[in-house]
Amino acid sequence: MLPKWFNDWNRDNPTNIFGPAILVGALGGAVFVAILLVTWGQPFATASMQTGPRGTGMSVPEFKVALARPDPTIDAYYTDSPIVPQGGEPLAKDIYQNVQVLGELTEDNFNRLMLAMTQWVSPEQGCAYCHGDVALEEYGKDDLYTKVVARRMIQMTQTINDDWSGHVNAVGEVGVNCYTCHRGENVPSEIWFKIAPVTETMAGWSANQNRATSISQSTSLPSDALEKYLLEANQIVVHDLESRVAGGPADKDNPLPSIQDTERTYALMNYFANSLGVNCVFCHNSRAFYAAAGEVTPQWSTASLGIQMVQELNNVYLVPLRDTYPPERLGPVYADAPKTACKTCHKGYQRPLQGLNVIADWPELASSDPPVYE
Ligand code: HEC
Ligand code: HEC
Ligand code: HEC
Ligand code: HEC
Repeated sequence: MLPKWFNDWNRDNPTNIFGPAILVGALGGAVFVAILLVTWGQPFATASMQTGPRGTGMSVPEFKVALARPDPTIDAYYTDSPIVPQGGEPLAKDIYQNVQVLGELTEDNFNRLMLAMTQWVSPEQGCAYCHGDVALEEYGKDDLYTKVVARRMIQMTQTINDDWSGHVNAVGEVGVNCYTCHRGENVPSEIWFKIAPVTETMAGWSANQNRATSISQSTSLPSDALEKYLLEANQIVVHDLESRVAGGPADKDNPLPSIQDTERTYALMNYFANSLGVNCVFCHNSRAFYAAAGEVTPQWSTASLGIQMVQELNNVYLVPLRDTYPPERLGPVYADAPKTACKTCHKGYQRPLQGLNVIADWPELASSDPPVYE
């Protein structure tokens, strides 16, 4: 088929063509992949969120897949748009016997909210969870503790959205409703009770630590950080920057933070990071954890507001409900009331429900003033 001189020449000059062929193939493949990456973008892209002033390296790089971590409870969220009153409708306070908080709602919107509260808090038990298995005419009675608690919960939710808008609407309109904490459960997850001291059989100050509890984030750090900072409002602070300073932890005139204060602060900070699913540089510049204004991220300020908000929720709303709950709802060691903290809302996510707006449909819960419908 081929000319004779060609076959003769080939036989006389044997050449290894596989080496060059593999080389050319590999180079060609690499060029092909490079073109794909340039045109389609690389599949494991990272996204950086700038958290501080430009040029200070304060940014949080994250894989995009991690940012989009789905929250399965979002799909189960129940909502219903408001029924805009036309004027002249009778109000709940005129129709029903014992409406102390939601009196300004029209009948339709009152029932719309009752239905939603049922979906958010007691989807399995239904209206009976708060009203008992009685006729609708009997719903005005306050016989069940669940109804008394729920009334206070409505007021608490209104206060969160009204007074702490700087936190719960920090990035965009998000807000809070019953579902933010309850997620379809009677008792929200990630509530907490006092448990310290957790160890009493050691010399020195060991009583609140050296036992990994969920409240110490499974470390040997103290288990009383939430109660000291988010209930009692102790100062969140660590060591002094100077090497030799007058005073000391026991010095009444010149009190200084102790090693215990330092460890407890780190316990709280671990809790913050785990509650939001972020790490420390989300709020701090790791060059100077002690720095406040100017060297921290905007998220630090949002978190500061969050600390004060949680203190108010616990002290004004949740702790005073202690005698309303049945004994089985109280804490295992001190029979104290169930309390809330960052993770009760955040559940391990940077923004609860990934920033889903849960007040858009619920002006009734967005403020303690009579609802304003668009
Ligand atoms: C999570 C607790 C809870 C659930 C579940 C619940 N309610 Fe209520 N309900 C309340 C509270 C609290 C009040 C009182 C509100 C107030 O004081 O402003 C109330 C009041 C009422 C009233 C007014 C009764 C009166 O005469 O004063 C009616 C009617 C009512 N609810 C209907 C329902 C219906 C229907 C359902 C089920 C779709 C339901 N509720 C589910 C907590 C609940
Ligand atoms: C900030 C978080 C948070 C929000 C928001 C919230 N709750 Fe609660 N709720 C709690 C905590 C904490 C408890 C105490 C848990 C317990 O009862 O053991 C609780 C308990 C309850 C209980 C008693 C349940 C039981 O079985 O003991 C009811 C009823 C209830 N909430 C209704 C509501 C309603 C209705 C709303 C919305 C108007 C609401 N909650 C909003 C945190 C929240
Ligand atoms: C969600 C935001 C947030 C995260 C995440 C966070 N912090 Fe903090 N941190 C704060 C705020 C706000 C304060 C100030 C609290 C105050 O003074 O009331 C603070 C205070 C501190 C302090 C005390 C500084 C002083 O004045 O002595 C230290 C130390 C600290 N954080 C370390 C950490 C470490 C380590 C991590 C990671 C494990 C971390 N933080 C994660 C918000 C955060
Ligand atoms: C009552 C529910 C609730 C509690 C309790 C709560 N948060 Fe939040 N937090 C929210 C909501 C809702 C947002 C979303 C605001 C937005 O996206 O506009 C938010 C946003 C934040 C942000 C800003 C996130 C961002 O992307 O910029 C930080 C930081 C934060 N919370 C920290 C905390 C810390 C720390 C605590 C505990 C001391 C706490 N939160 C307790 C509801 C809560």
